[in-house]
Amino acid sequence: MEEHMGHVIPAPVTTKGSVEQVWFPKNCDIDILDNGRTIRDFIDIKIKELGSADNDEPFYVVSLDGIFEKHLRWRTNLPRVKPFYAVKCNNEAAVLRMMSALDTGFDCASKVEIQLVLSLGVTPDKIIYAHTTKPLSHIKYACTHGVDTMTFDCEDELLKISRCHAKARLVLRIAVDDSASKIRLSLKFGARLESAAQLLCRAGELGLEVIGVSFHVGSGCTQSSAFKLAIADARRVFDMGKLLGLQMSLLDIGGGFSGIEDCLVEFEEFSEVINGALEEFFPPDSGVQIIAEPGRYYVDSAFTLAANVFAKRVIADDMDEHSDGEDSSPDRTMMYYLNDGLYGSLSCLINDAAHTNIEPYLARVVESSEQRFRSVLWGPTCDSIDKVTDSCWIPELNVGDWLLIDNMGAYSICLSTDFNGFERAHIYPVVSTKTWHTLNLSEIYNIRQ
Ligand SMILES: Cc1ncc(COP(=O)(O)O)c(C=O)c1O
Repeated sequence: MEEHMGHVIPAPVTTKGSVEQVWFPKNCDIDILDNGRTIRDFIDIKIKELGSADNDEPFYVVSLDGIFEKHLRWRTNLPRVKPFYAVKCNNEAAVLRMMSALDTGFDCASKVEIQLVLSLGVTPDKIIYAHTTKPLSHIKYACTHGVDTMTFDCEDELLKISRCHAKARLVLRIAVDDSASKIRLSLKFGARLESAAQLLCRAGELGLEVIGVSFHVGSGCTQSSAFKLAIADARRVFDMGKLLGLQMSLLDIGGGFSGIEDCLVEFEEFSEVINGALEEFFPPDSGVQIIAEPGRYYVDSAFTLAANVFAKRVIADDMDEHSDGEDSSPDRTMMYYLNDGLYGSLSCLINDAAHTNIEPYLARVVESSEQRFRSVLWGPTCDSIDKVTDSCWIPELNVGDWLLIDNMGAYSICLSTDFNGFERAHIYPVVSTKTWHTLNLSEIYNIRQ
């Protein structure tokens, strides 16, 4: 098929109606990296194992140490800010269990996300239902399961909440300047400052309690000053509330932090600006609790995807634009078909504006003397939009070879589909012996036999 098949449709979540029915294995299998084994060693072994079993499915390796390191970095740099992990970013059991072991809170966007988190034994007070537009049935579900903290940004939402969750603890989400972010969320969500006082009054009239203010500077934020401006805006809303007799006690600074190392602005720079702004506008003696909703920060770099070349075509170029006339630029293009693509793990290339660049590399060692060929990497489906990279220069691959792609943890698995019957990548969580013992993970993971 040569036609673009339209947008990626996320695969249905494997959950059902109530907490009891949520599909989540009681325990989650994990591999321990003992005797100095590294993640690369694990990947190499896994590739051999799969090869000998004629298994050519794509897979992820998840470094739980990577998630732990991110958490330690968060605590060191933002000691006043409690993270509520944004489940939407990656709702894999291994990840959510790790977050629970790290005692983070959770930002849930829907009933199913709340179900998933509660099914891990997380108490409802550790959940913020951080979606401003909520279906009535989801609000009712939150109410009956004790999830009280939730965001809103308009009067209609207040009316819905007053109908079915009168004891909700509300957080007013404000729109902030998100022009420096790759995904602008304030276009869709958040009350303007001009309407904030009116909304606070309306909540009071309806007998609803507003406990704080939230914002999101946009996902993939590229300027730390965005946080300072947004925190200053939040202060203005707190002051409006004070004039109305409200004692708000929660500030939620949202997400937006990059999860990869070579990003434009380092986490440490964001932290410095945030800490400074908090000191100025919400000093510790203000009594305001500060939380955040990081998603990609925690998981992006922890996931490496391994994809297999299951088909290959060699195309003779009529005219090789890249040729410099030397033997090293052969006049043919290699077409490789991978077992994962834009309808699978790599849907981020279309659906996540903050993740536009991926750098696949060969799982095997490449000698510098090896000849490189212009290569196009395709995903497995019949759709021609399913193209992973247009042109990369790599040594010749054979059917059965594996490519690796780093930084694949954010908005990848959760957006992948089984279009054309290609299954979602299998997930192998791994952890070092040290982290295993430090966090006492034996209570929540099974060691894979
Ligand atoms: C309400 C809310 N909170 C948190 C997040 C997580 O953002 P990020 O992954 O950029 O940290 C998002 C992402 O869309 C969001 O909409």
